[in-house]
Amino acid sequence: MDGVKVTLDGMRGGIEGPKEVGLKNVSSHCSISEMDDYDLSKLLDKPRLNIKREKSFDERSLSELSIGLARGLENYESSYSPGRSVLDTPASSARNSFEPHPMVADAWEALRRSLVHFRGQPVGTIAAYDHASEEVLNYDQVFVRDFVPSALAFLMNGEPDIVKNFLLKTLQLQGWEKRIDRFKLGEGVMPASFKVLHDPVRKTDTIIADFGETAIGRVAPVDSGFWWIILLRAYTKSTGDLSLAENPECQKGMRLILSLCLSEGFDTFPTLLCADGCSMIDRRMGIYGYPIEIQALFFMALRCALVLLKHDTEGKEFIERIVKRLHALSYHMRSYFWLDFQQLNDIYRYKTEEYSHTAVNKFNVIPDSIPEWVFDFMPTRGGYFIGNVSPARMDFRWFALGNCIAILSSLATPEQSSAIMDLIEERWEELVGEMPLKICYPAIESHEWQIVTGCDPKNTRWSYHNGGSWPVLLWMVTAACIKTGRPQIARRAIDLAESRLLKDGWPEYYDGKLGRYIGKQARKHQTWSIAGYLVAKMMLEDPSHLGMISLEEDKQMKPVIKRSSSWTC
Ligand code: GLC
Repeated sequence: MDGVKVTLDGMRGGIEGPKEVGLKNVSSHCSISEMDDYDLSKLLDKPRLNIKREKSFDERSLSELSIGLARGLENYESSYSPGRSVLDTPASSARNSFEPHPMVADAWEALRRSLVHFRGQPVGTIAAYDHASEEVLNYDQVFVRDFVPSALAFLMNGEPDIVKNFLLKTLQLQGWEKRIDRFKLGEGVMPASFKVLHDPVRKTDTIIADFGETAIGRVAPVDSGFWWIILLRAYTKSTGDLSLAENPECQKGMRLILSLCLSEGFDTFPTLLCADGCSMIDRRMGIYGYPIEIQALFFMALRCALVLLKHDTEGKEFIERIVKRLHALSYHMRSYFWLDFQQLNDIYRYKTEEYSHTAVNKFNVIPDSIPEWVFDFMPTRGGYFIGNVSPARMDFRWFALGNCIAILSSLATPEQSSAIMDLIEERWEELVGEMPLKICYPAIESHEWQIVTGCDPKNTRWSYHNGGSWPVLLWMVTAACIKTGRPQIARRAIDLAESRLLKDGWPEYYDGKLGRYIGKQARKHQTWSIAGYLVAKMMLEDPSHLGMISLEEDKQMKPVIKRSSSWTC
């Protein structure tokens, strides 16, 4: 046997060091993640589609749930039941008197319409199925990041095959030789997207992948590899099928991604250095350096890889590197990216020109560079991970995806996670407004917009990536709400989405300070808006789904947030 086998038990939360993987974790205190492991393991030997749903959230006794969740349950309204599968098993509506929301059936239909087949097999979902739009642009492709909510919806609905096909197809694409002009890209790079070409005459299908070479601005899809690993864990956790992750090709795929992001360079920080536009925000938006979205996904992917890697000779070497990096990364993020009222006040009073061994102001941030808006925005209660930290530069903007993933991956401590939810509540109008959720806050305008975006006409203030509102983020905030025991916040956000999304034709994004207007150039029937809604609904109805996309805190990683202590110690 190649070392210790990764088992489902090894996936029970925490950053399991090598020795812990495979050990059964028996505890009388049942956390939500342990509970869903329990639920899932019970389901393993049965075909999931025909399974009657486990007790719904409101039917469970509070004692079955973690204290955090129970806190949120006090305000939790009775659940309505969209059902595991509207098309296949509309069973859940019989369990209580609440009919599924009419949008759910429409969403499933639209999601199925977006399926892309390769040689007869479904391998992904198209980014947007917008017939009314004249320009297809590249929205007829399967984007790796866009497929994640689709994949989760299919997994939650007991349809894992498409997810498996997608993981294997993208793995094959990773193996392609990738060149841009005369430059050969790293072996581990995963594509941003791929397209299936059907030749009706020859009756053949071919695939073309985009690794950034045809993307606007040739941006590097750094997030793709991370999402791929996160999805592999979600698939494994949901199905209990270890054979896919243990397959030598998947192990190699993971190692190739990890080689790219764990390689040593000239850097002095454990965070990952990136160019602009390397993630969901795939245009120039001043997020070069160490953007929160990538750091949070990096952290989560490392934690997922830790439980998926086999303990063979090659795997062990990576496991050691991951464990070291995770410790440094979590320390760095929790200490230097975290901002709350106290921290802001400290930075405001910073001295400059200190040498680093004794410096309190480690990055020599000049207090005058703190933007005015942040003083008003910062509530007394609440906090968040800021957008970016590098020498003399703190990007104070709020980014939704990075903060939600920080909660789900437990990069945020439980206190920080609660504080992020507090901030969302306190700044509801700014961050949620009339359509969840702002991709970032605030928008950049005028001269700053000219300089930072290069006068990008798509990213004008409060539009698209520049303060636009993206319905896809609903699933992430819902997951974060459930994890922090605040489902009532998710309920509020879903209500807002339900009042508009179907009527407006599932737009890609909304514009305006409150997110009231359908985005200037937004696609309609955007698949991840549709899938994101379904995932949010299914998770709220049955929170045991959360385990697929959430990791419990690792108790070994002590949060040390004393700014005066050196981060090297
Ligand atoms: C836009 C978004 C990107 C998304 C793509 C396909 O380029 O910025 O995040 O993956 O559209 O929907």
